[in-house]
Amino acid sequence: MQPAVRAELAAATAELAAAGVASARVDAELLLAHVLGCSRSRLLISDGLGPGEAGRFRQLVSRRAAGTPLQHLTGVAPFRHLELAVGPGVFIPRPETELLVELAAPWLTPGATVVDLGAGSGAIALSVAQEFPVTRVIAVERSEQALEWLRRNAEVRQAAGDLAVEVLAGDITDPGLLTELTGSVAVVLANPPYVPESIRAGLPAELAHDPAEALFAGTDGLALMPALAGLAARLLRPGGLLGIEHDETHAQAVSGLLTDAGWTNVAGRPDLTGRPRFTIAVRA
Ligand SMILES: C[S@@+](CC[C@H](N)C(=O)[O-])C[C@H]1O[C@@H](n2cnc3c(N)ncnc32)[C@H](O)[C@@H]1O
Repeated sequence: MQPAVRAELAAATAELAAAGVASARVDAELLLAHVLGCSRSRLLISDGLGPGEAGRFRQLVSRRAAGTPLQHLTGVAPFRHLELAVGPGVFIPRPETELLVELAAPWLTPGATVVDLGAGSGAIALSVAQEFPVTRVIAVERSEQALEWLRRNAEVRQAAGDLAVEVLAGDITDPGLLTELTGSVAVVLANPPYVPESIRAGLPAELAHDPAEALFAGTDGLALMPALAGLAARLLRPGGLLGIEHDETHAQAVSGLLTDAGWTNVAGRPDLTGRPRFTIAVRA
């Protein structure tokens, strides 16, 4: 690695670590790669920093140290095989959600219609459209701001040759949502807001960069679950799959709610660290 690049990275890593950024070195490398317009691995063979680039890099490092999410500084968030455009107004996709797509894989087959409820940047819907031989993918989102990011990402992926994702401005609690698809959908996936309002004050400051309506769902975080389960029950065809991401403290509540509503084969699924973060259920 070029000495100037090595020195910039060392200083940035120290600044970020001192500010409590857990992945200080990785963040420093990703910010520098962003400034230099190259991939992280190309930093090893980069020619060094041109005029203005060191200043720009240091500015971004300071903003990161002050708590701005890395993804808002680079403008992109990785998710499975995608790089999604993100910024203020849309939820930053989290790596654990990648597993929700994986859990649905056996149902993501030719002929399948898939609905992503609360689609945000489009992480789930666009991954399904990119990776699986399904027939139709519909991404439903309520927030006007999030819809702008979603439409932008969907256009980019369609232009790249993926199956076109249909973006729908809609509300999960609307009883008239997608009535034309009643009983015909193969898979409903959702990573809804699920943070209890009651813990809002104690949350890490960085979460303030995600829109509140992407995070919070009533005092207990479960406010949207009954509407979501009801909508999925109406949309899914017999044998269809519902997959929900939720807080690890909600596993019992979510499976109880689904079982009480008549769902069969309700099962919890852990994330990669063993926490019960997903519930899947099959429509009888
Ligand atoms: C936790 S974010 C998940 C976004 C995306 N699916 C992901 O995993 O990155 C929840 C999303 O649901 C949307 N949302 C919240 N309430 C909604 C509702 N009633 N109807 C439709 N979307 C809603 C929010 O705007 C937000 O984009």
